[in-house]
Parts: sequence; C-alpha cells; structure tokens
Amino acid sequence: MAEPSDPLVREVALLLEKKPRISVLTGAGVSAASGIPTFRDAQGLWEGVPPEDVATPQAFARNPGFVWRFYDERRRRLLECHPNRGHEVLAAWSRRYPDFSLITQNVDGLHELAGTANVTRFHGSLWDVGCWEECVASPHRWRDETVPFPSLPPVCPYCGGSLRPGVVWFGEGIDPHVVQKAEAATRCDLFFTIGTSAVVFPAADLIFQAQRHGATVIEINPEKTPASSRVDLFLQGNSEIVLDRIEALLG
Ligand code: OAD
Repeated sequence: MAEPSDPLVREVALLLEKKPRISVLTGAGVSAASGIPTFRDAQGLWEGVPPEDVATPQAFARNPGFVWRFYDERRRRLLECHPNRGHEVLAAWSRRYPDFSLITQNVDGLHELAGTANVTRFHGSLWDVGCWEECVASPHRWRDETVPFPSLPPVCPYCGGSLRPGVVWFGEGIDPHVVQKAEAATRCDLFFTIGTSAVVFPAADLIFQAQRHGATVIEINPEKTPASSRVDLFLQGNSEIVLDRIEALLG
C-alpha cells in the first residue's frame, strides 16, 4: 500500500506542483468506496450476471424487461451513493489545474456530483436513456431520472416504443465525438489511470496513446493490471486513500 511517506506519493506530488497538463482515466474502482460494485473483482457485477445477458444489444432484443430490471436496480442503488474522497480530490484538481481532463468509464455520475470539471463519459450514463428504435422524433440520448420506472421496459415518450439505457454495451461503438475528445486528452504531461482493470478497449488504449505522446503515466490500483508493467509509476492502493495522501502533500 502506498503510505504518505512513500517516495512514489511524494514524486507524484512534486510532478503536480509543476502545474502540468493532466488527464485522468477512471474505472469502477474509483467508485468502490462509494458502495458501487466493480465489474471484475470478486463479487463484481459480472460475477452475478454475465455481461452477455444484460450488456449487449442482442440481450436487450431478446429480453428488454430482464435487461431493464438490472439497470433499474443499479439506478435505484445509486440514489444511496455519494462521491468518496477519491472523487473529491479529482474534483479539486479539475478546478486547480487549468489544463485538466477526466475521462471516465463509469456510468454512475459521481465525478460530476463531486463537482469535477471537464468530464468525458466514455461509456454513457446510467441516468441517460434513448429510444431503442432510434425514432426520428427523439434525440440520440436524454436524461431521465425516474426511479423506478412504472413499467419495464419504459416507454419512449416520442414514439411509444421501448426506451433503452443510455450506456454503451459490448459490441457497440463509442460516439466518435467522445473518442475524439478522449484522444485529444491523451496529449498531456501527466496521465493517470485509476481504478480500472485496463482490459476493456478502446478505453484502455488511451493509456498507451498518452505514453506514445510522451506523457508520464501513473497508475493507482490495489492490484496489478495488464498496464502496470508499462506505466511509469505504479502506486499500489485504493484510490480514495492514495489520492488523499497525494493531496495532503500538496497542502
Ligand atoms: P473492473 O471491474 O474491470 O476493474 C475495477 C478495477 O478497480 C480493478 O483493477 C480493481 O483492482 C480496482 N479497484 C478495486 N477497488 C479499488 C479502489 N478502492 N480504488 C482503486 N481501484 C480499485 O472495472 P473497469 O475497469 O471500470 O463497461 O471496467 C471497464 C468496463 O468494463 C466498464 O466501464 C464496463 C465493464 O464491462 C461497459 O459496461 C461497457
């Protein structure tokens, strides 16, 4: 575990004091301390329900009610969750450093709730919905905070068809504008990869793009990932603790 006296924690604090261009990629581990299960850890979401049953267009086409019960329940649980110290520190950085970008794979909205500026949601949002039929009258995605929905699948207010969750499923492409913004953020001085297993692409490739662009890449995770052997600094520990320790040194 990275301790406050850990030379790596001090090294990162020194790098931050130079007010560099900072980009951050986050994953489910950042929200673990807020009570939101990760996907691939023991008792992670994909342990209980395989992704092919709830996180593909094919699964939705087969059984939209089943898929929606999974997302409706995640939305309901999210109402009880709050940003943790890790989200707070990243939000403080977003206000302090003029050139800060955060790309998150998380769909929980906790970075935004913590007040983080310049967040790019790579995999959509649990609070967004869209028309499954992509009816011409409807926008691509819009926010709907109804919890629980009166019927599942919920009804598209534009065409009377079914709504779908506004998250990116396996087999679906990422919005090209989102990819463009995230790739632009890989041109930075410090690139943090925090709380992600770094196995889902194209998100994980942002880490290596940043490296190719000359960024110093820093990983914060209690476990090693496929990226760990390639990053410049690996700080082993929970993000809510490690980020707090870095922030404490920054005063
Ligand atoms: P994973 O569940 O794959 O990985 C979570 C990571 O968080 C692991 O590497 C853990 O070691 C780490 N972790 C656990 N507790 C932590 C803590 N307190 N602080 C920091 N790290 C901690 O989640 P993601 O990498 O986010 O996509 O998964 C990527 C994508 O796969 C998700 O966005 C989702 C999923 O399928 C879609 O649904 C499209």
